[in-house]
Formats: sequence, structure tokens, C-alpha cells
Amino acid sequence: MILLTGGLGYLGSHMAAQLLERGQPVVLLDNLSNSTLDVKDRLETLCQQAIPFERVDVRDRDAVKQVFARYPITAVVHFAGLKSVNESVQQPLAYYDHNVNGLVSLLSVMAETNVRTLVFSSTAAIYGEPQALPIPESAALSPVTPYGHSKLMCEQVLRDVAHADGLPTRSQDVERWKIAILRYFNPAGAHPSGLIGEIPQGIPNNLVPYIAQVACGERAYLSVFGQDYATVDGTGVRDYIHVQDLIAGHVAALQWLSSQASACEVFNLGRGEGVSVLQMLHAFSEVVGRPLPYEIVARRQGDCASVYADAQRAEQLLSWRATRNVLEMAEDTWRFYRALKQADI
Ligand code: WQD
Repeated sequence: MILLTGGLGYLGSHMAAQLLERGQPVVLLDNLSNSTLDVKDRLETLCQQAIPFERVDVRDRDAVKQVFARYPITAVVHFAGLKSVNESVQQPLAYYDHNVNGLVSLLSVMAETNVRTLVFSSTAAIYGEPQALPIPESAALSPVTPYGHSKLMCEQVLRDVAHADGLPTRSQDVERWKIAILRYFNPAGAHPSGLIGEIPQGIPNNLVPYIAQVACGERAYLSVFGQDYATVDGTGVRDYIHVQDLIAGHVAALQWLSSQASACEVFNLGRGEGVSVLQMLHAFSEVVGRPLPYEIVARRQGDCASVYADAQRAEQLLSWRATRNVLEMAEDTWRFYRALKQADI
């Protein structure tokens, strides 16, 4: 059974759907700070089965221990955490507490219960301003926000835990750690059923949810943060990856880990292709069948011109590659948003 922390979140819910679709049982752990039980209902409708759920904060070690006692957990995919770049600048302590303390709490329970297979949700934000493009996993790590720093610290915790595992002092009667660290570029899109997707919380910071709200008429227009970058059309370029492809990368990582005696490996999960703000906007306009209003405004502080992945390592070791394009991301997002509007969520 696979434990999905943050299992009712955007990525966690899509992971649950893909694993259940493959007949792999899951248990979802979520503190509902950024999700609702409605997502569980939607998931159960989609997967046609009841899904075990525990309302637990991953930082609550005793509560997490009880979850491990209650279910035959064999591996963990750790999505739970805070992920807003802007918010992290205003609330750094919350980010170190949730992301770093949350991971340490989870790892200590995993070690105690001898469950040592983990897929960890990391981010391309730890690269900061790229020195060269596309960005390989070996690129310099220079995060510029507390969010990025917290994820880099988490990666260091994982490397140190794996290193200790390899020392002669380690007890021989426990499993070795098997860890895959997945650095996401820009997740976008939704499950094609329209039942699960990224449910907006307030004014979206990220581009794709904001465009979807413009398309729904909830926002008057998209503010394009700068058109004076050295890019194809002057607007920011990013590596958008369909959430279904991103999650397929997690499934591939779990499979790969099961074939390893021990591991602590990092993989970029991106399409390896840069897409500009205006190109993404135009894809949405094509899907909704009308031009979407936008205004060019000043650059957003901390943004860089171009970021996109070198994803060869995941392709080679995990036999995984992203297959869905920007139009599919726009179509699936749009379908989900219209379903949300009809359900009046
Ligand atoms: C994308 C592009 C903006 C909003 C962040 C995190 C990263 C990951 C994804 C978690 C940029 C432009 C945006 C808007 C705009 N999250 N934009 N108008 O900043 O690349 O990455 O989210 O892991 O860690 O850093 O994503 O969607 O905010 O911006 O013009 O209203 O869209 O300038 O070029 P970003 P984003």
C-alpha cells in the first residue's frame, strides 16, 4: 500500500487516481489546509471505490505513527507541503516548519517502522537563475526564496539519511533507503475526466490557473509580467508539464526504486521545451474559441527570462518522458474549470 501525503492536493489526487487505476492500493494523508473533502468524493467517483483517508498533519509524528500502524504501508510519496513562492517570502518560518520539519517527522516514522522507499516532491525553483539551458540535475543549486531554500534543505536531509545508510555502523537487519527526488518544472492541466484538477485558492500566483479564471470570466484580463525578456516574444518562458505526465513520472520512479537495493537519485520532470506566457495564452484562446484579454505590465520581482528542463536522466533511468502538449494542458484545465463552475465550487 502506498501512502500519499498531501493526497487530496492537486498532485496527490492525480497520483491516487493513477495508482488506483493500476490496481495499486493507496491511503491518503492530508491536513486539509489546501484542499477539501470534496476532492475525496470526486476521486472516489472517478476511481469507483472508497479510498482510505486520514486527516493528519505530517508534522504530527504520533498521528503519522498511528497511520503506519493502521495500514500495511510499503512506500511513501511525499507531496504534503507549502509551495507558494510569494507566500514563502512573507512567511518563511511556516515554509521551513511545514516543508523541512514535516519531512523530518515523516522520515523518523518511516525509519522506525522500517518503511524506506520514498518519492519526494522537489522543485525546479532550487536552481534559481539558470546558468545554462536546458537545466540538468547537475546545475548549480541557488534558490532565491524560502520556498526554494526549504526544498533544497529537504534534499540535503534526504542525501544525509541515505549516506548514513551506507556506513558500516548501520544495522544490517533493516532495509536500505530507496529515495527518488523529483524536481518539478511547471505543473499544469487536469485529469481528462474533469473531476480533479488544481482548485484555485484566492487569486492565483501561477499563470495557468490565472488564465483559466480569465477564460471563465472571473478575472477581467491577464497581467503579463514583462515583455522585454530576451525570449521568443519577450515574455517569460517556462517548462510546462501536464500533471498526468508529471504523475506518470512518479509512478515510473516508484517502479524504478523497487528494482534498486538502495538509491538516492534526483530527476528533473519537465518536457524539456520552453513555452512563453503569450504562447500559453494563445493555446487557451484556441481552446475557448475566442481571444483572451491581457495587458503587458512590469516584470514580477524574482522572475527570470527562461527556465526549462534537461529531462534526459528521467528518460534514460526511469524510461519516462512527457507526451502531452500545451494544447492538452489548456483543454484539460478548461474542462475542469467549467466543471467546477457548474458544481459552483
Ligand atoms: C510562469 C510565467 C510569470 C502569472 C513557480 C514556482 C515553481 C513551481 C511553479 C512549485 C512567468 C508569468 C505568471 C501571471 C504572468 N511551483 N506570469 N502573469 O514562477 O515559473 O514557477 O510555479 O514547485 O517552483 O517558482 O510559475 O506560473 O508563477 O509563472 O505573466 O499572472 O508566467 O512571469 O514568466 P513560475 P508562474
